[in-house]
Amino acid sequence: MQSPLLSFSVCDDTMEQRLRDKIAIVTGAGRGIGKGVALRLAREGAHVVIAEYDPGTAQQTAQEVQALGVSAMPYPVDLSDVSQIPPMVDAVVRAFGRIDILVNNAGRVQTKPMLDLTEEDWDRIVSVNQRGLFFCLQAVARQMIAQIPEEIRNSDRAPHSFGKIVNFSSVAGRSGRPNSTHYAATKAAVISITRSAALALARYNINVNAVCPGIVLTAMWQEIDQANQLMRGLEPGEWIRRSIETVPLKRAAQPEDIAAAVAFLCSPDADYITGQALNVDGGLEMD
Ligand SMILES: NC(=O)c1ccc[n+]([C@@H]2O[C@H](COP(=O)([O-])OP(=O)(O)OC[C@H]3O[C@@H](n4cnc5c(N)ncnc54)[C@H](O)[C@@H]3O)[C@@H](O)[C@H]2O)c1
Repeated sequence: MQSPLLSFSVCDDTMEQRLRDKIAIVTGAGRGIGKGVALRLAREGAHVVIAEYDPGTAQQTAQEVQALGVSAMPYPVDLSDVSQIPPMVDAVVRAFGRIDILVNNAGRVQTKPMLDLTEEDWDRIVSVNQRGLFFCLQAVARQMIAQIPEEIRNSDRAPHSFGKIVNFSSVAGRSGRPNSTHYAATKAAVISITRSAALALARYNINVNAVCPGIVLTAMWQEIDQANQLMRGLEPGEWIRRSIETVPLKRAAQPEDIAAAVAFLCSPDADYITGQALNVDGGLEMD
């Protein structure tokens, strides 16, 4: 890892530097949407911690982030094990001195009929999407509060934003999913956690919001497509094609589409937005 104390000139001068020298943790950033978010935050000038289960993909994303001229820190971690979260926060603070942004993106999906779900299925999905997400948020929020000068911390109202937290929900958290009941439940819980945390952290002026992606072409959707091939006897890609047909904008998202919304919520442009869940879904959900 390069020293966070060195100053870098960011190569991509075509993009506005809304996040210049901010310290961001992106969970699950080894691939998919999380990787897209890490690269987008880096292009906007943030130094990025890649908190990721898979050490190989964490390293790969870190290299691509560094190539953009900012610092990157790959941090292999299993967020379903809550005991690994405080040491991660400590390591980031040791390396960079502070944390300004948390993007709680890591998640798992499973496609299985509701009547067949086991306790093990339930716990596996909840442990990352809901429990891991909450305890990451809590540990980082404590750190963000500790960074606020004491006289402001003890006052009624902080005068400007002291941190941004973006949680990953889903359109599945907006409605029911008969073949992903546990997944949908965790994503609804993320919206609730976002609202409660936004209220709890408002006096510190820490913004907490959620994004609800629709269909994003990542390994997760390949997994959903494969499960539907088996369950419904479909050809490869058929479930994805049918699902995209239901999107008003008639296309799936790329990770960059979601990353753009996340970067906005992490930026000063979103200073007056908190407790919201933003659909980034081509019009699938409108509430
Ligand atoms: N792909 C979609 O269409 C879609 C739609 C709505 C919401 N989402 C949400 O967006 C987020 C990212 O989805 P994606 O499509 O990029 O998924 P993905 O499966 O491609 O990537 C998820 C990443 O999270 C990491 N991860 C999983 N469990 C972890 C753990 N315990 N500790 C640390 N890292 C862990 C994985 O290793 C992987 O790198 C998820 O929260 C997902 O629920 C995705």
